[in-house]
Amino acid sequence: MDNILQQKRILVGITGGIAAYKTIEFIRLLRKQNAEVRVVLTEAASHFVSPLTLQAISGNAVSQSLFDPQAELAMGHIELAKWADAIVIAPATADFLARFNLGLANDLLTTLCLATSAPIFIAPAMNQQMYAQTVVQQHLSSLRQRGITIIGPNSGEQACGDVGAGRMSEPVEIFTALADAFCREQPLAGITVAITAGPTQEPIDPVRYISNYSSGKMGYAIAEAFAQQGATVTLISGPVNLTTPPNVKKIAVTTAQQMWQQSMTAAVTHQIFIGCAAVADYRVAEIAPQKIKKSGDELTLKLVKNPDIIADVGHLTEHRPFTVGFAAETQDVENYAKDKLVRKQLDLICANDVSIAGQGFSSDQNALQLFWHKGSATLPLTNKRQLAEQLVNHIINLYQTTKNNDEKN
Ligand code: PMT
Repeated sequence: MDNILQQKRILVGITGGIAAYKTIEFIRLLRKQNAEVRVVLTEAASHFVSPLTLQAISGNAVSQSLFDPQAELAMGHIELAKWADAIVIAPATADFLARFNLGLANDLLTTLCLATSAPIFIAPAMNQQMYAQTVVQQHLSSLRQRGITIIGPNSGEQACGDVGAGRMSEPVEIFTALADAFCREQPLAGITVAITAGPTQEPIDPVRYISNYSSGKMGYAIAEAFAQQGATVTLISGPVNLTTPPNVKKIAVTTAQQMWQQSMTAAVTHQIFIGCAAVADYRVAEIAPQKIKKSGDELTLKLVKNPDIIADVGHLTEHRPFTVGFAAETQDVENYAKDKLVRKQLDLICANDVSIAGQGFSSDQNALQLFWHKGSATLPLTNKRQLAEQLVNHIINLYQTTKNNDEKN
């Protein structure tokens, strides 16, 4: 759970209650974990805490109104709603709960809550008599049913002198509830994965190169599937026309030698290494410094062998990651794949038959046959996103089993 909130984008909404001063400490805890924080203050809340204080603590300008042209210019309300990985409203007054539950969008905060797809957490705070009212309880129960997480409130002495339920949860309790939720959603937090993807380009002269049909879709889908479950992902990518998935660190390379260099550095610092790239086995021995001119009916290029990245990772003797290779075959898929599993010293190989139209290179779909030393599995034809999710589950299960066995021995 360490650093689970690192780089997470948390939108903190503050409504008008005396407990608002405690939210400053909550924001401080978020910032300590390097979460990015943006604060939205309702009109009433600004009577309890100053925007200047919140700006200093959060490190960002505070948003207060739907109709502030300056704030809308910096980050419009819809943008803000999309920006957030989570929204936390603390304190949440009875008035806010009612408006939110009814689906009103009559201020910036309620509008954001309607416009976001991020999970919403609410820490109610109010007088115990108000909290006990049936109507308040109905709003809370309806919000819970809609998937909103209600944190607290606690019981005890209140600012008004009453004693009972309605005190806002302590900042550390709100922080823990939020971190727990991310932990549940991100079972791979703490796992580090390096993935190669796409083709390599091996220059012939300043205007030509040798390459292949890899689009990078398969490798990028795997990177995205790992990152979505909270893994730390490094994507070593050849030249492709794809957007880097969120929360993935991309290292762009062109040639096999560049990919080898970045891969060998990444391999010893990541727990899992996946070679999905279609690496050119050969490169031109001598790259012509000028464009080769047309002359004669034949042209002979001398090619020399490129390093085998996945085999070099598989054969590491120190800090060797759990190593997953791919096999792109056009015939005798199982035998060739099993041969690569052994020869390249891999833990798992994912074989695809690239002779079948509509799968493998460039297509949006693929099917895989997985082989490891003690078993095999088939992942039938589906889109690369779904296939990647299934593959991630297999890789994680095998990785955990290997790790547990290593720890026992
Ligand atoms: O990118 P897409 O269009 O989505 O297509 C996906 C894919 C077909 C490229 C992908 O699913 C795939 O099969 N990737 C591996 C392609 C390949 O080069 O396979 P191979 O059988 O030639 O190589 C076997 C393994 O050795 C692979 O893990 C490859 O990355 C690795 N290799 C190969 C040569 C080399 N010099 N270094 C390597 O590391």
